[in-house]
Amino acid sequence: MLIQILTLFPEMFDGPFNCSILKRAQEQNLVEFRYHNFRDFTTDKHRMVDDSPYGGGSGMVLKPEPIYRCLQAVKKDRPLAKTILMTPQGAVFDQKLARQLSAEEHLIFICGHYEGFDERIRQWADFELSIGDYVLTGGELAVMVVCDALVRLIPGALGSDESAVRDSFTGSLLDFPQYTRPVEFEGSAVPELLLSGHHAKIEAWRREQAIVRTAQRRPDLLKDANLTEAEQRFLMEKYNIKP
Ligand SMILES: C[S@@+](CC[C@H](N)C(=O)[O-])C[C@H]1O[C@@H](n2cnc3c(N)ncnc32)[C@H](O)[C@@H]1O
Repeated sequence: MLIQILTLFPEMFDGPFNCSILKRAQEQNLVEFRYHNFRDFTTDKHRMVDDSPYGGGSGMVLKPEPIYRCLQAVKKDRPLAKTILMTPQGAVFDQKLARQLSAEEHLIFICGHYEGFDERIRQWADFELSIGDYVLTGGELAVMVVCDALVRLIPGALGSDESAVRDSFTGSLLDFPQYTRPVEFEGSAVPELLLSGHHAKIEAWRREQAIVRTAQRRPDLLKDANLTEAEQRFLMEKYNIKP
């Protein structure tokens, strides 16, 4: 997969994209990142990428021309690449979107900055993406979040012992509680069943824990969780939770 990022701050990606799974995925040629500073596509001597808003108001707005020229150059050989504009006004990113994007061959992200961007920039994007209902300084951190979530879903990106299959949101349940050595720490012990080696019972316990955890923390997810009648009854009887 080729991911091209239009940004005024390409250096921001150096750290996060050069360690752990993102680094390994690049070394394995599963993903390639290219950064394009749209300031390089200005034509005036001050290399201006922003200007004050028409109609007045505080802050600066990203101008359309540098981003347009940068996008044209990036899309020249790959006109079908999906272009995604980062904005808090976009569709809210989730695991389902991460999975969809992980199947693309070529993605282009546009990072806004300052007060935002000229409204005409919106028409060049295939869709607009937000990472949540809060406002960041720029789109860079948002792109990092999106890329991290989607790259780990590219087949081969995770090692065999780092499966994404059970992760929270992969089905409609949160992940079950995990434990590792030591068996006891500061008076807190690992549930005995996990030490039993009884795989069927462990599986059943994990499913039960995932259901209870989801019901307690994110009951909104349960409607898509396809709980069996027995599981629904169990939630009602033991926890007084109606799925
Ligand atoms: C300070 S914000 C501008 C926010 C804009 N005035 C608004 O309220 O929609 C600057 C840039 O950061 C990025 N950004 C901020 N919050 C974001 C979020 N929650 N998700 C994705 N991108 C975000 C966008 O690219 C945005 O253009």
